[in-house]
Amino acid sequence: MAKRAAGRMRWDSVWLLRLLMSVLVLERFQLVAGLLQVEMAGRTQMVFLNENVTIFCKIRDSPHLDIKSMGITWFQKTGKSETYTKLFQYFGNYRETSQRGAWVSLRSLQKGDASLQLPRVQLEDAGEYRCELVVTPQKAQGSVWLKVVAQPVSNLSEQVMVKDNKDRHILCTSSRFYPEHINITWKKWTQNDRHFREFSKNITTDHIVKNEDGTFNITSHLRLKPSLEDNGTIYQCVVWHVSLPTIQSLDFQLILHPESEKKTDWLSIGMIVVIIIGLIILLYIFLKTRSVKCWKWCLLKRVCAHVVQLFMTLWSVVCQAPLSMEFSKQEHWNGLPFPSPGAFPNPEIEPKSPAFQVDSLLLEPLGKLEDERHCKQRLLEDKGPSKLELDQMTASSTHQQI
Ligand SMILES: *[C@@H]1O[C@H](CO)[C@@H](O)[C@H](O)[C@H]1NC(C)=O
Ligand SMILES: *[C@@H]1O[C@H](CO)[C@@H](O)[C@H](O)[C@H]1NC(C)=O
Ligand SMILES: *[C@@H]1O[C@H](CO)[C@@H](O)[C@H](O)[C@H]1NC(C)=O
Ligand SMILES: *[C@@H]1O[C@H](CO)[C@@H](O)[C@H](O)[C@H]1NC(C)=O
Ligand SMILES: *[C@@H]1O[C@H](CO)[C@@H](O)[C@H](O)[C@H]1NC(C)=O
Ligand SMILES: *[C@@H]1O[C@H](CO)[C@@H](O)[C@H](O)[C@H]1NC(C)=O
Repeated sequence: MAKRAAGRMRWDSVWLLRLLMSVLVLERFQLVAGLLQVEMAGRTQMVFLNENVTIFCKIRDSPHLDIKSMGITWFQKTGKSETYTKLFQYFGNYRETSQRGAWVSLRSLQKGDASLQLPRVQLEDAGEYRCELVVTPQKAQGSVWLKVVAQPVSNLSEQVMVKDNKDRHILCTSSRFYPEHINITWKKWTQNDRHFREFSKNITTDHIVKNEDGTFNITSHLRLKPSLEDNGTIYQCVVWHVSLPTIQSLDFQLILHPESEKKTDWLSIGMIVVIIIGLIILLYIFLKTRSVKCWKWCLLKRVCAHVVQLFMTLWSVVCQAPLSMEFSKQEHWNGLPFPSPGAFPNPEIEPKSPAFQVDSLLLEPLGKLEDERHCKQRLLEDKGPSKLELDQMTASSTHQQI
């Protein structure tokens, strides 16, 4: 009986010992697993194109490590590739780097930081990165998805569309961004409403264009035909892109200046009046001297031609003056319907189109020659002016032809 009891006790103790051991082993396992763990920058890490970046991989609780008894390997899987390629490896005194020039600072490694330094990130560098650490006898690994982005550079500019009914286009351009998806909207603040409100009328967005480096450009047009109630309206172009921490907004205020337009108006009207009065006086003098001789006719015609030419030149100067001002105004975003070529507020005094001006100037000398031949012929018949006068006239007419 006693023998039996002793045997049972032995059995029990063996079983107990086993249990104890297995618990210990389990605990040790847990300890091992808890000791070596790496931390990455979450599931994905967003980096900017062309920057020198750090892909995080840190040992939790950052222990002080003897780098001689550890190893680190970084792998990369980019694009459509199915396999991982080795980017960097270090163990013992052995170090291996790939052509990409990625590296891990050994000084940081001693402090448990195995982060990878990747110089001048390109769009092709996007993909999965895996960090594998061995601190004998333990092992740990972590991976992260690297997302490469480029921030849009946005800009407002202005364009006068000669083709499109001389409308003004305000362009909001965003350039060199990546990835392709972008959202450009327009908002408007008016004196009456005093809130920025989104609107979509008269807005067109161009097709996206790709740059050589793989980034994109896009332009959104706002077609404007400002009227008096638009004075003081603020227009805003709002750009949203995944690479931006907040939205980008660019705005400009429309300030109308009708007074300055009127000034140029009065100037041109005044000039026309002066010229017309001059012509009337000439005509009057001409009609008063009843005994008209042909050479007087010719002189009068020539004077008239000069006056018309002068008028044309002055007119073109008047027309061009506001045009050049328009482009210098661009930056301030003000000025009423920026006078575009030929767009005079009063249609009745609209100048002739440049094509018409060229035509009439070309035709003019031909008519003059015809007239002069005719005149000289009549002069001979008339026996009008003295020899001296005739000489003077021929001299001046040859001068004209030159
Ligand atoms: C990236 O690092 C290189 C040297 O490794 C340096 O010349 C360059 O200016 C750095 N570029 C940026 C954007 O920090
Ligand atoms: C904005 O666009 C205009 C016209 O395209 C250009 O002249 C100007 O240099 C641009 N400004 C910036 C800061 O890019
Ligand atoms: C995109 O915009 C940039 C900056 O404005 C310009 O230098 C580049 O030429 C543009 N690319 C295309 C394809 O138009
Ligand atoms: C663009 O932004 C507007 C307003 O923020 C939003 O209503 C619209 O859905 C966005 N469009 C896209 C394609 O994200
Ligand atoms: C849009 O443009 C047309 C023609 O330029 C104009 O008649 C209309 O008033 C514009 N609409 C708005 C809301 O500005
Ligand atoms: C437009 O507003 C500006 C100031 O906001 C003012 O100086 C200008 O006279 C206004 N123009 C018209 C036509 O009322």
